[in-house]
Amino acid sequence: MGSFLGFVYRQLTFKPKPIPANVTLRAKTALVTGASGGLGLEASAELAAHGLSRIILGVRDPSECESIRSTISAKNPDIDVQIWELEQESLPSIKAFADRAAGLDRLDIVILNAGVKGIDYAVSKGGHELNTQVNHIGTALLSLLLLGPLQKTAQETDAPARLTIVSSENHFWVNLKDIKGPDTLANMDVQDNFGKGMDRYSLTKLFNVLWMRELSNRATGNVVINAVNPGFCQSKLHRYHPGGASFANMIGWAAAQGGHCLTDAATSHPKDKGAYISEQVVKRHVEFTLFSSMLPT
Ligand SMILES: NC(=O)c1ccc[n+]([C@@H]2O[C@H](COP(=O)([O-])OP(=O)(O)OC[C@H]3O[C@@H](n4cnc5c(N)ncnc54)[C@H](OP(=O)(O)O)[C@@H]3O)[C@@H](O)[C@H]2O)c1
Repeated sequence: MGSFLGFVYRQLTFKPKPIPANVTLRAKTALVTGASGGLGLEASAELAAHGLSRIILGVRDPSECESIRSTISAKNPDIDVQIWELEQESLPSIKAFADRAAGLDRLDIVILNAGVKGIDYAVSKGGHELNTQVNHIGTALLSLLLLGPLQKTAQETDAPARLTIVSSENHFWVNLKDIKGPDTLANMDVQDNFGKGMDRYSLTKLFNVLWMRELSNRATGNVVINAVNPGFCQSKLHRYHPGGASFANMIGWAAAQGGHCLTDAATSHPKDKGAYISEQVVKRHVEFTLFSSMLPT
């Protein structure tokens, strides 16, 4: 698992399936971040078609996403589609988003999907390196803040609530040199430590898995927390990476197929807390822990 040849083989031979038609999400509320397009939008539309009572789409610019509301509502007239602003470069925006979620009467399913693949060093509005801020810090903070509403819903409905973090197979392919030392996050903000190509993106996707595992180990209540590899898909993720975009045109899945992987992780595998799911089955993730690899040498 995690070898390049294996990755290409799985891309060419595996076909992700949508969640089965008989799965009903009736009366439930789902929340998906990064839902303006790509896999997040596809997953949202798929969940909506299974009888959700409400879906919340976390997007950077709600005014740009009004057409999404009408598209989903046209196919699912009874659903309440809400479009909420979320900018993961900004901690206050994440906090405001989570405060809004805390006011919901229930929150059953969360897919933390928002992400960026920056292959050149850039600093986010919050001051941290961009991939680190959006993919790791933003996702981790939001997962912590949404855990309370999920736990409350699980208790009140006597059914498992679900939290899925979107990682990547890239999490196996990391360059660890810039995370050694006592202050990993500070090291990751230093331009000289950025690495090459997808180094930093991959590292943040590893952090997604490690964070998910810790959160799942420490969380109380009936919340199933997992991470998913959606496969290599055609989407705007590759907009700053021409080589990635060309390769995605050759062997990438359609965004809807990546969306199937997200919905599968968020609705199936109810007994697999802390799991890493790839090709719609639970797989082994990296063996080491963040903490041992962070020790000074
Ligand atoms: N596509 C692949 O091959 C692939 C493979 C493995 C993992 N993934 C993961 O799948 C997830 C979805 O990616 P995708 O392929 O669907 O790419 P995408 O089409 O670029 O979608 C990414 C989503 O994240 C949002 N986003 C980006 N920066 C944000 C920020 N600062 N704050 C809030 N939202 C932000 C984007 O919003 P805007 O529209 O406003 O930019 C968009 O809605 C990501 O986590 C990615 O790492 C993708």
